[in-house]
Amino acid sequence: MNISVVGTGYVGLVVGACLAETGNQVVGADIDERKIAGLKQNILPIYEPGLDRLVERNQAAGRLSFTVDVAGAIAGSDVVFIAVGTPPDEDGSADLSHVLDVADMIGRHMARELVVVTKSTVPVGTAAKVSEAVQANARYPFHVVSNPEFLKEGAAVDDFMKPDRVVLGAETDHARSVMAELYSPFVRTGKPVIFMDIPSAELTKYAANAMLATRISFMNDIANLCERVGANVDLVRKGIGSDDRIGPAFLFPGPGYGGSCFPKDVKALVKTARDQSSCLRILEAVESVNDDQKRRLAQKLRLALGADLTGASIAVWGLAFKPNTDDLRESPALALIDELVASGARVTAHDPVAMEEAKHRLSSGVEFAASSYEALNGADALVVVTDWNEYRHPDFVRIKKTLRRPIIIDGRNLYALHRMTELGFTYHSIGRPTVS
Ligand SMILES: NC(=O)c1ccc[n+]([C@@H]2O[C@H](COP(=O)([O-])OP(=O)(O)OC[C@H]3O[C@@H](n4cnc5c(N)ncnc54)[C@H](O)[C@@H]3O)[C@@H](O)[C@H]2O)c1
Repeated sequence: MNISVVGTGYVGLVVGACLAETGNQVVGADIDERKIAGLKQNILPIYEPGLDRLVERNQAAGRLSFTVDVAGAIAGSDVVFIAVGTPPDEDGSADLSHVLDVADMIGRHMARELVVVTKSTVPVGTAAKVSEAVQANARYPFHVVSNPEFLKEGAAVDDFMKPDRVVLGAETDHARSVMAELYSPFVRTGKPVIFMDIPSAELTKYAANAMLATRISFMNDIANLCERVGANVDLVRKGIGSDDRIGPAFLFPGPGYGGSCFPKDVKALVKTARDQSSCLRILEAVESVNDDQKRRLAQKLRLALGADLTGASIAVWGLAFKPNTDDLRESPALALIDELVASGARVTAHDPVAMEEAKHRLSSGVEFAASSYEALNGADALVVVTDWNEYRHPDFVRIKKTLRRPIIIDGRNLYALHRMTELGFTYHSIGRPTVS
């Protein structure tokens, strides 16, 4: 099939490369000239494990190409995926301007019957708006499909290649049969392709992210209670996660959820409910718990170092909102560093892949270290924010020797309490007893 994917960000690039890998002819189109110039030379704008090899192989095989000529890409396609950003507007609702710009382009430049697939995460009712925008100039029949994407950054290629399920909101037989054919290579092990009406598909994506965010905020709330009553959240987590009705995933407390999806999708769903004179009370609480949780690491630092952080020197390990990505959007590390800098502390940060990106985002007061140990030089405390593998089993003796004071604030519960006790650290984690 001839496919164009408009928007070559995290989602568009993965979708395009994976569809090319299964033999389709795919054009990735984007208005960002630098991004496209890089992609043509196999230089990826993002860090995503395995994606570079996929892009290179499929470009070399002539199945995948990149262009800034969005109109040309649309004109040559049987299926167009809209995978542009839907950032939050000031009122929390999803900004649909990029999606609707692309829909307008599709109407103007389509040159045959077309399936128009919304991959971007969009609120209920957006497919109808997309349809209207295409219809305004359309000269051929078209079929709008809502196909929300559930990939996880850091495991995106695997998630797309082996999805738990594919959700498709479609209203014509043509759309259903094209999409079923397109996805058939990815569901050979019997994972379901779930066809539904378009509004249900649109809502499914938000409901999934809202449920996951809820589990995280719930566990953060429980962790904070554990600290007050002297319980250990790791044990509570295992105790509840082994119940089949609950399951073990997404029960890890931490410094609050971040990333490009959960914060904006929870906000957008809350706004959708308000627009319908309804109220999602649980999700409003989920957001407010998360906002508080993003301040927990700084609070713990104050407990360990004293209320006044002026002049303190802090090492921060981990900037990306989670491991295996360089995505910094809404990362708890940025919230922490902003607060530390505002309190007069000096920050030296390390991240295995996100430092280049962070240099554009963080104030000039922050220093970046070439290695995790270099970040510790002269620091009064270490704060671990992202659970990258390389931070899991560090050389604690070296850490203790390098830090000015043996203080670790661990936002991911990476280290065993008994080890921290033996080594003589002051150690604060999330929802577990403090070692001092
Ligand atoms: N990142 C994720 O993990 C993830 C997962 C599932 C769903 N989503 C959703 O997918 C959508 C895209 O997310 P992303 O993280 O890939 O975004 P992104 O910001 O990484 O990429 C969006 C791309 O769209 C391009 N673009 C914007 N307007 C354009 C236009 N008019 N024509 C052509 N290109 C245009 C931008 O230049 C950018 O390259 C969002 O709605 C997001 O909520 C993201």
